[in-house]
Amino acid sequence: MTKADLEKRPSQVSAMFDRVSTHYDRTNDVLSLGAAPLWRRQTRLAVKARPGERVLDVAAGTGTMSALFAEDGAKVTALDFSHGMLEEGVRRHGGDAGITFVHGDATQLPFEDGTFDATTISFGLRNVQQPKLALAEMRRVTKPGGRIVVSEFSTVTNPVVRVGYDVYMATLMPLVVRLVSSDPEAYEYLHETIQAWPDQPTLAAWLRGAGFERVKYRNLSSGIAALHKGFVPTGA
Ligand SMILES: C[S@@+](CC[C@H](N)C(=O)[O-])C[C@H]1O[C@@H](n2cnc3c(N)ncnc32)[C@H](O)[C@@H]1O
Repeated sequence: MTKADLEKRPSQVSAMFDRVSTHYDRTNDVLSLGAAPLWRRQTRLAVKARPGERVLDVAAGTGTMSALFAEDGAKVTALDFSHGMLEEGVRRHGGDAGITFVHGDATQLPFEDGTFDATTISFGLRNVQQPKLALAEMRRVTKPGGRIVVSEFSTVTNPVVRVGYDVYMATLMPLVVRLVSSDPEAYEYLHETIQAWPDQPTLAAWLRGAGFERVKYRNLSSGIAALHKGFVPTGA
């Protein structure tokens, strides 16, 4: 199944995540060569959830980020359209105070306007069939003055790292995937979607286009991933 096929069928994207749900987090940690937990720590710091705040984690998967925001004292809504990922999330974090798992689509969020202090999406936007629509929805449900944080794979900016990264993605990663993943095909999709994903300035422009202001980004691991942050205007 190619990315082109999946792009047309969100139901196949959710089915793919259903299949990988039980091994998803372990596979990520291995494939990122240990970088994923560092990127998660940076995302947590960027969201800076405060006690009592309402945080929406879109495309939350198994709730790995949601659990960190809940640890910071926020009331977290973890939304995803894969039942498999949500079930795994409930199994791991269902008992955690402060997290509610919700089935829903990022492009049609089932919340009133201005519900959340912060909305965030980690390694999810790239998988959404209409990412600009998802950003517009995140803007809609964020309170005036509230913030958005997007963490996502991005474009490597350091030429030396670029060479090593390309070699890893083309040769080593497929081997590692065969060893650790329950669904190697899903990780071909990962590679293809990363290659097709816009660079840092383009994603920043998408955030501005969705109505966020003071948009900034910074690279993680030389741009292998990037963190984008923006705010809803206070007068909105
Ligand atoms: C790579 S996982 C990321 C999960 C989690 N955010 C994390 O940091 O581990 C991508 C997630 O996006 C979800 N997803 C993709 N498109 C979606 C959509 N339109 N609405 C809701 N969830 C979606 C998938 O089901 C999957 O759980």
